[in-house]
Amino acid sequence: MAMRKIPVYELVPGSKFSKSVYLDKDTVLVGSKQPITQQDLDRLKQFGISFVLTDGDIILGIEEEKGSGGSGMGFFDTNLPLFQDDEYSSRCKYILEKANSSKVEFSAVFKDAFELVQKTYRSASEGRYTEIREFREIAERIADHVKGNPQLPIVLLAHSHSGYYLYTHVCFTTFLAVHIGNFLDFSRPKLIDLALASLFADIGMVTVPEEVSEKKGALSELDLKTIKRHPVTGYQILTQKLKLKNSLAIVSLQHHEALDGTGYPQKILANQIEELTKVFMLADQFIAMIMPRPHRQAMLPYDAMKIMISENVNRYDLKMVRLFLNKFSMFPIGSGVALSDNRIGMVIDSNKDKPLRPIIRITKDTNGNRMKVLEFVDLMRDLNTYIQKAVPFSQVY
Ligand SMILES: [Fe+2]
Repeated sequence: MAMRKIPVYELVPGSKFSKSVYLDKDTVLVGSKQPITQQDLDRLKQFGISFVLTDGDIILGIEEEKGSGGSGMGFFDTNLPLFQDDEYSSRCKYILEKANSSKVEFSAVFKDAFELVQKTYRSASEGRYTEIREFREIAERIADHVKGNPQLPIVLLAHSHSGYYLYTHVCFTTFLAVHIGNFLDFSRPKLIDLALASLFADIGMVTVPEEVSEKKGALSELDLKTIKRHPVTGYQILTQKLKLKNSLAIVSLQHHEALDGTGYPQKILANQIEELTKVFMLADQFIAMIMPRPHRQAMLPYDAMKIMISENVNRYDLKMVRLFLNKFSMFPIGSGVALSDNRIGMVIDSNKDKPLRPIIRITKDTNGNRMKVLEFVDLMRDLNTYIQKAVPFSQVY
Protein backbone atom coordinates (compact mmCIF):
# COMPACT_ATOMS: atom_id res chain seq x y z
CA MET A 1 0.00 0.00 0.00
CA ALA A 2 1.27 3.44 -0.87
CA MET A 3 2.38 5.61 2.01
CA ARG A 4 0.97 9.06 2.58
CA LYS A 5 2.87 12.04 1.22
CA ILE A 6 3.63 14.71 3.79
CA PRO A 7 4.75 18.06 2.40
CA VAL A 8 8.11 19.09 3.87
CA TYR A 9 6.81 22.59 4.65
CA GLU A 10 4.51 21.00 7.23
CA LEU A 11 7.47 19.64 9.17
CA VAL A 12 9.07 21.58 11.98
CA PRO A 13 12.04 20.65 14.16
CA GLY A 14 10.58 18.25 16.73
CA SER A 15 7.84 16.81 14.48
CA LYS A 16 7.35 13.10 15.26
CA PHE A 17 5.28 10.41 13.58
CA SER A 18 3.88 7.18 15.01
CA LYS A 19 5.65 5.23 12.23
CA SER A 20 8.94 5.71 10.40
CA VAL A 21 9.26 8.54 7.92
CA TYR A 22 10.82 7.70 4.55
CA LEU A 23 12.47 9.68 1.78
CA ASP A 24 11.49 7.00 -0.71
CA LYS A 25 10.18 3.51 -0.15
CA ASP A 26 13.60 2.21 0.95
CA THR A 27 15.28 5.13 2.70
CA VAL A 28 14.32 6.02 6.23
CA LEU A 29 14.62 9.65 7.28
CA VAL A 30 13.73 9.08 10.94
CA GLY A 31 12.34 6.10 12.84
CA SER A 32 8.96 5.96 14.52
CA LYS A 33 8.51 8.53 17.32
CA GLN A 34 11.92 10.04 16.54
CA PRO A 35 11.84 13.80 16.28
CA ILE A 36 12.83 15.36 12.98
CA THR A 37 15.70 17.79 13.55
CA GLN A 38 16.62 21.07 11.94
CA GLN A 39 19.53 19.23 10.29
CA ASP A 40 17.10 16.75 8.72
CA LEU A 41 15.05 19.64 7.39
CA ASP A 42 18.16 21.34 6.00
CA ARG A 43 19.15 18.09 4.33
CA LEU A 44 15.73 17.77 2.69
CA LYS A 45 15.98 21.29 1.42
CA GLN A 46 19.50 20.72 0.11
CA PHE A 47 18.31 17.73 -1.91
CA GLY A 48 15.26 19.60 -3.12
CA ILE A 49 12.91 17.06 -1.54
CA SER A 50 9.44 18.50 -1.07
CA PHE A 51 7.61 15.41 0.24
CA VAL A 52 8.38 12.64 2.71
CA LEU A 53 6.44 9.41 3.07
CA THR A 54 4.88 7.72 6.10
CA ASP A 55 2.03 5.48 7.22
CA GLY A 56 2.13 7.07 10.65
CA ASP A 57 0.22 9.94 12.18
CA ILE A 58 1.84 13.03 13.54
CA ILE A 59 2.37 12.89 17.28
CA LEU A 60 1.71 16.25 18.78
CA GLY A 61 4.07 17.39 21.47
CA ILE A 62 2.36 17.07 24.82
CA GLU A 63 3.63 19.40 27.51
CA GLU A 64 6.35 17.64 29.44
CA GLU A 65 5.92 17.40 33.16
CA LYS A 66 7.66 20.37 34.62
CA GLY A 67 6.91 19.56 38.26
CA SER A 68 9.70 20.43 40.61
CA GLY A 69 11.15 17.97 43.06
CA GLY A 70 8.86 15.02 42.59
CA SER A 71 7.11 12.91 40.08
CA GLY A 72 3.52 12.89 38.96
CA MET A 73 2.85 16.41 40.17
CA GLY A 74 1.93 17.81 36.83
CA PHE A 75 3.35 21.08 35.69
CA PHE A 76 1.48 23.16 38.23
CA ASP A 77 2.71 21.31 41.34
CA THR A 78 -0.63 21.48 43.06
CA ASN A 79 0.22 18.99 45.76
CA LEU A 80 2.87 21.13 47.39
CA PRO A 81 1.82 22.39 50.84
CA LEU A 82 0.06 25.74 50.95
CA PHE A 83 2.20 28.62 52.20
CA GLN A 84 -0.84 30.19 53.79
CA ASP A 85 -3.84 28.09 54.61
CA ASP A 86 -6.59 30.61 54.08
CA GLU A 87 -9.66 30.82 51.91
CA TYR A 88 -7.97 32.93 49.28
CA SER A 89 -5.00 30.54 48.87
CA SER A 90 -7.39 27.60 48.67
CA ARG A 91 -9.29 29.33 45.88
CA CYS A 92 -6.05 29.90 43.97
CA LYS A 93 -5.04 26.30 44.53
CA TYR A 94 -8.40 25.22 43.14
CA ILE A 95 -7.75 27.19 39.92
CA LEU A 96 -4.45 25.36 39.44
CA GLU A 97 -5.97 21.99 40.26
CA LYS A 98 -8.73 22.62 37.78
CA ALA A 99 -6.12 23.56 35.13
CA ASN A 100 -4.13 20.45 35.93
CA SER A 101 -7.08 18.11 35.73
CA SER A 102 -8.31 19.63 32.46
CA LYS A 103 -5.00 19.04 30.67
CA VAL A 104 -5.79 15.53 29.51
CA GLU A 105 -9.17 16.44 28.05
CA PHE A 106 -7.77 19.62 26.52
CA SER A 107 -4.93 17.74 24.81
CA ALA A 108 -7.36 15.17 23.43
CA VAL A 109 -9.77 17.77 22.01
CA PHE A 110 -6.86 19.82 20.66
CA LYS A 111 -5.31 16.80 19.01
CA ASP A 112 -8.58 15.72 17.37
CA ALA A 113 -9.23 19.27 16.18
CA PHE A 114 -5.70 19.47 14.80
CA GLU A 115 -6.01 16.20 12.91
CA LEU A 116 -9.34 17.17 11.39
CA VAL A 117 -8.05 20.60 10.37
CA GLN A 118 -4.94 19.01 8.90
CA LYS A 119 -6.94 16.46 6.94
CA THR A 120 -9.42 19.01 5.62
CA TYR A 121 -6.92 21.75 4.77
CA ARG A 122 -4.59 19.25 3.14
CA SER A 123 -7.41 17.76 1.06
CA ALA A 124 -8.56 21.22 0.04
CA SER A 125 -5.04 22.03 -1.16
CA GLU A 126 -5.35 19.03 -3.48
CA GLY A 127 -8.81 20.06 -4.61
CA ARG A 128 -10.66 17.41 -2.57
CA TYR A 129 -13.35 18.42 -0.11
CA THR A 130 -14.52 16.50 2.91
CA GLU A 131 -17.78 16.74 4.77
CA ILE A 132 -18.58 19.36 7.37
CA ARG A 133 -20.35 16.85 9.61
CA GLU A 134 -17.22 15.80 11.51
CA PHE A 135 -16.47 19.43 12.25
CA ARG A 136 -19.76 19.93 14.01
CA GLU A 137 -18.82 17.29 16.58
CA ILE A 138 -15.38 18.76 17.25
CA ALA A 139 -16.86 22.26 17.45
CA GLU A 140 -19.29 21.01 20.11
CA ARG A 141 -16.46 19.42 22.07
CA ILE A 142 -14.42 22.62 21.93
CA ALA A 143 -17.38 24.75 23.03
CA ASP A 144 -18.19 22.40 25.93
CA HIS A 145 -14.59 22.14 27.04
CA VAL A 146 -14.13 25.91 27.03
CA LYS A 147 -17.44 26.52 28.84
CA GLY A 148 -16.52 24.05 31.56
CA ASN A 149 -12.95 25.30 32.02
CA PRO A 150 -12.68 29.05 32.61
CA GLN A 151 -8.99 28.60 33.52
CA LEU A 152 -8.32 27.55 29.91
CA PRO A 153 -5.59 30.19 29.17
CA ILE A 154 -3.29 28.59 31.76
CA VAL A 155 -3.42 25.31 29.87
CA LEU A 156 -3.56 26.90 26.42
CA LEU A 157 -0.44 29.03 26.87
CA ALA A 158 1.54 26.12 28.34
CA HIS A 159 0.52 23.71 25.60
CA SER A 160 3.37 22.77 23.31
CA HIS A 161 2.89 21.35 19.86
CA SER A 162 4.99 20.16 16.99
CA GLY A 163 2.52 20.28 14.14
CA TYR A 164 2.58 22.48 11.05
CA TYR A 165 2.16 26.16 11.85
CA LEU A 166 -1.05 26.83 9.93
CA TYR A 167 -3.07 24.01 11.50
CA THR A 168 -1.65 24.66 14.98
CA HIS A 169 -2.47 28.35 14.66
CA VAL A 170 -6.03 27.56 13.58
CA CYS A 171 -6.56 25.32 16.62
CA PHE A 172 -5.09 27.73 19.18
CA THR A 173 -7.12 30.57 17.68
CA THR A 174 -10.33 28.55 17.80
CA PHE A 175 -9.94 27.74 21.50
CA LEU A 176 -9.13 31.35 22.35
CA ALA A 177 -11.97 32.74 20.21
CA VAL A 178 -14.48 30.46 21.93
CA HIS A 179 -13.02 31.47 25.29
CA ILE A 180 -13.61 35.14 24.44
CA GLY A 181 -17.09 34.26 23.17
CA ASN A 182 -17.75 32.68 26.53
CA PHE A 183 -16.76 35.94 28.30
CA LEU A 184 -19.29 37.65 26.05
CA ASP A 185 -21.97 35.25 27.33
CA PHE A 186 -22.57 33.65 23.95
CA SER A 187 -25.10 30.81 24.08
CA ARG A 188 -23.87 27.25 23.48
CA PRO A 189 -25.15 27.19 19.85
CA LYS A 190 -23.40 30.49 19.21
CA LEU A 191 -20.13 29.19 20.72
CA ILE A 192 -20.40 26.13 18.48
CA ASP A 193 -20.92 28.40 15.46
CA LEU A 194 -17.90 30.45 16.50
CA ALA A 195 -15.78 27.31 16.81
CA LEU A 196 -16.93 26.05 13.41
CA ALA A 197 -16.28 29.38 11.70
CA SER A 198 -12.87 29.67 13.38
CA LEU A 199 -11.69 26.19 12.37
CA PHE A 200 -12.36 27.04 8.72
CA ALA A 201 -11.43 30.71 8.67
CA ASP A 202 -7.92 30.32 7.23
CA ILE A 203 -8.67 27.59 4.70
CA GLY A 204 -7.87 30.02 1.89
CA MET A 205 -4.22 29.83 2.97
CA VAL A 206 -3.98 26.41 1.29
CA THR A 207 -4.01 28.24 -2.05
CA VAL A 208 -0.96 30.32 -1.10
CA PRO A 209 2.23 28.59 -2.33
CA GLU A 210 4.48 27.54 0.53
CA GLU A 211 7.42 29.52 -0.93
CA VAL A 212 5.35 32.54 0.03
CA SER A 213 3.67 31.45 3.29
CA GLU A 214 6.88 29.93 4.68
CA LYS A 215 9.24 32.63 3.44
CA LYS A 216 11.97 33.53 5.90
CA GLY A 217 12.86 36.98 4.60
CA ALA A 218 10.79 40.06 3.88
CA LEU A 219 7.74 39.60 1.69
CA SER A 220 7.63 41.29 -1.72
CA GLU A 221 4.67 43.27 -3.05
CA LEU A 222 3.66 40.26 -5.09
CA ASP A 223 3.92 37.91 -2.08
CA LEU A 224 1.66 40.22 -0.10
CA LYS A 225 -0.82 40.35 -2.95
CA THR A 226 -0.90 36.55 -3.05
CA ILE A 227 -1.41 36.28 0.70
CA LYS A 228 -4.10 38.93 0.70
CA ARG A 229 -6.20 36.82 -1.63
CA HIS A 230 -6.72 34.09 0.98
CA PRO A 231 -9.88 35.52 2.62
CA VAL A 232 -11.64 35.54 -0.77
CA THR A 233 -10.44 32.10 -1.87
CA GLY A 234 -11.28 30.75 1.59
CA TYR A 235 -14.80 32.14 1.37
CA GLN A 236 -15.22 30.63 -2.11
CA ILE A 237 -14.05 27.21 -0.94
CA LEU A 238 -16.34 27.31 2.08
CA THR A 239 -19.49 28.43 0.31
CA GLN A 240 -19.07 26.66 -3.02
CA LYS A 241 -17.20 23.47 -2.17
CA LEU A 242 -17.82 22.76 1.50
CA LYS A 243 -21.32 24.28 1.51
CA LEU A 244 -20.77 25.97 4.83
CA LYS A 245 -23.57 28.39 5.62
CA ASN A 246 -22.88 31.99 4.72
CA SER A 247 -23.15 33.33 8.27
CA LEU A 248 -20.10 31.19 9.20
CA ALA A 249 -18.14 31.39 5.93
CA ILE A 250 -18.28 35.18 6.17
CA VAL A 251 -15.74 35.00 9.03
CA SER A 252 -13.19 33.70 6.54
CA LEU A 253 -13.93 36.55 4.13
CA GLN A 254 -13.76 39.23 6.83
CA HIS A 255 -11.08 38.02 9.22
CA HIS A 256 -8.38 40.42 7.98
CA GLU A 257 -10.64 43.45 7.90
CA ALA A 258 -10.21 46.11 10.57
CA LEU A 259 -12.95 48.12 12.26
CA ASP A 260 -11.35 51.39 11.13
CA GLY A 261 -11.44 50.28 7.48
CA THR A 262 -7.70 49.65 7.15
CA GLY A 263 -7.95 45.89 6.63
CA TYR A 264 -8.42 43.73 3.54
CA PRO A 265 -9.86 42.61 1.15
CA GLN A 266 -12.91 44.91 1.16
CA LYS A 267 -11.78 47.65 3.58
CA ILE A 268 -15.19 47.53 5.21
CA LEU A 269 -15.99 49.34 8.46
CA ALA A 270 -17.10 48.25 11.92
CA ASN A 271 -20.85 48.15 11.23
CA GLN A 272 -20.35 45.80 8.27
CA ILE A 273 -18.20 43.33 10.17
CA GLU A 274 -20.02 40.43 11.79
CA GLU A 275 -19.84 39.85 15.53
CA LEU A 276 -18.31 36.38 15.13
CA THR A 277 -15.58 37.90 12.96
CA LYS A 278 -14.84 40.57 15.55
CA VAL A 279 -14.23 37.90 18.18
CA PHE A 280 -12.19 35.77 15.80
CA MET A 281 -10.00 38.72 14.77
CA LEU A 282 -8.92 39.37 18.36
CA ALA A 283 -8.00 35.74 18.97
CA ASP A 284 -6.31 35.35 15.58
CA GLN A 285 -4.06 38.38 16.02
CA PHE A 286 -3.12 37.55 19.60
CA ILE A 287 -2.21 33.94 18.73
CA ALA A 288 -0.31 35.06 15.62
CA MET A 289 1.90 37.28 17.75
CA ILE A 290 2.68 34.72 20.46
CA MET A 291 3.61 31.96 18.00
CA PRO A 292 7.05 31.82 16.34
CA ARG A 293 7.24 32.21 12.55
CA PRO A 294 10.07 31.54 10.10
CA HIS A 295 10.82 35.27 9.86
CA ARG A 296 10.49 36.22 13.54
CA GLN A 297 10.49 34.92 17.10
CA ALA A 298 7.39 34.48 19.21
CA MET A 299 6.40 37.54 21.21
CA LEU A 300 5.74 37.38 24.93
CA PRO A 301 1.98 37.44 25.63
CA TYR A 302 2.50 40.75 27.45
CA ASP A 303 4.04 42.35 24.35
CA ALA A 304 1.25 40.99 22.18
CA MET A 305 -1.35 42.42 24.57
CA LYS A 306 0.42 45.77 24.55
CA ILE A 307 0.23 45.96 20.76
CA MET A 308 -3.43 44.96 20.76
CA ILE A 309 -4.45 47.68 23.18
CA SER A 310 -2.21 50.42 21.82
CA GLU A 311 -1.07 50.57 18.20
CA ASN A 312 -3.71 48.16 16.87
CA VAL A 313 -6.60 49.17 19.07
CA ASN A 314 -8.66 50.90 16.34
CA ARG A 315 -8.77 47.68 14.37
CA TYR A 316 -10.85 45.89 16.98
CA ASP A 317 -14.17 46.24 18.76
CA LEU A 318 -13.38 48.42 21.76
CA LYS A 319 -15.85 46.69 24.05
CA MET A 320 -14.27 43.33 23.23
CA VAL A 321 -10.70 44.60 23.66
CA ARG A 322 -11.62 46.00 27.09
CA LEU A 323 -13.15 42.72 28.11
CA PHE A 324 -10.18 40.77 26.77
CA LEU A 325 -7.78 42.96 28.74
CA ASN A 326 -9.92 42.78 31.87
CA LYS A 327 -10.22 39.01 31.85
CA PHE A 328 -6.70 38.24 30.65
CA SER A 329 -4.92 41.12 32.39
CA MET A 330 -2.07 43.07 30.83
CA PHE A 331 0.22 40.19 31.80
CA PRO A 332 -2.04 37.50 30.38
CA ILE A 333 -3.23 34.56 32.46
CA GLY A 334 -0.85 31.66 31.89
CA SER A 335 2.17 33.88 31.18
CA GLY A 336 5.32 34.42 33.24
CA VAL A 337 6.26 37.51 35.25
CA ALA A 338 9.10 38.78 37.43
CA LEU A 339 7.97 40.74 40.48
CA SER A 340 9.59 43.87 41.91
CA ASP A 341 11.34 41.74 44.58
CA ASN A 342 12.74 39.45 41.83
CA ARG A 343 10.41 36.57 42.56
CA ILE A 344 9.18 34.73 39.45
CA GLY A 345 5.70 33.42 38.91
CA MET A 346 2.85 32.65 36.57
CA VAL A 347 -0.32 34.72 36.30
CA ILE A 348 -3.27 32.52 37.25
CA ASP A 349 -6.17 34.96 37.53
CA SER A 350 -7.06 38.59 36.90
CA ASN A 351 -8.53 41.35 39.05
CA LYS A 352 -11.37 43.18 37.35
CA ASP A 353 -10.41 46.64 36.05
CA LYS A 354 -6.86 46.26 37.41
CA PRO A 355 -4.97 44.86 34.42
CA LEU A 356 -1.55 45.53 35.99
CA ARG A 357 -2.43 43.80 39.26
CA PRO A 358 -3.34 40.16 38.57
CA ILE A 359 -2.99 37.12 40.85
CA ILE A 360 0.27 35.21 40.59
CA ARG A 361 1.47 31.81 41.63
CA ILE A 362 5.08 32.16 42.81
CA THR A 363 7.40 29.54 41.31
CA LYS A 364 10.84 30.91 42.26
CA ASP A 365 11.89 32.88 45.32
CA THR A 366 13.98 36.09 45.35
CA ASN A 367 17.15 34.02 44.85
CA GLY A 368 15.80 32.09 41.91
CA ASN A 369 15.24 28.88 43.88
CA ARG A 370 12.19 26.79 43.15
CA MET A 371 9.40 27.16 45.66
CA LYS A 372 8.70 24.18 47.91
CA VAL A 373 5.31 25.56 48.88
CA LEU A 374 2.31 26.84 47.00
CA GLU A 375 2.33 30.58 47.39
CA PHE A 376 0.05 33.08 45.71
CA VAL A 377 0.35 36.83 45.48
CA ASP A 378 -2.69 38.95 44.79
CA LEU A 379 -1.29 42.29 43.65
CA MET A 380 -4.52 43.98 44.72
CA ARG A 381 -3.84 42.96 48.31
CA ASP A 382 -0.09 43.29 48.26
CA LEU A 383 0.18 46.86 47.02
CA ASN A 384 3.91 47.16 47.76
CA THR A 385 4.71 44.56 45.13
CA TYR A 386 4.37 45.13 41.42
CA ILE A 387 5.29 43.39 38.19
CA GLN A 388 8.76 44.32 37.01
CA LYS A 389 8.58 42.61 33.62
CA ALA A 390 7.16 39.73 31.64
CA VAL A 391 9.36 36.63 31.36
CA PRO A 392 9.20 33.68 28.95
CA PHE A 393 7.51 30.49 30.10
CA SER A 394 10.89 28.69 30.15
CA GLN A 395 11.99 30.87 33.07
CA VAL A 396 8.90 30.22 35.17
CA TYR A 397 9.78 26.63 36.14
FE1 LIG B 1 -5.82 34.60 7.65
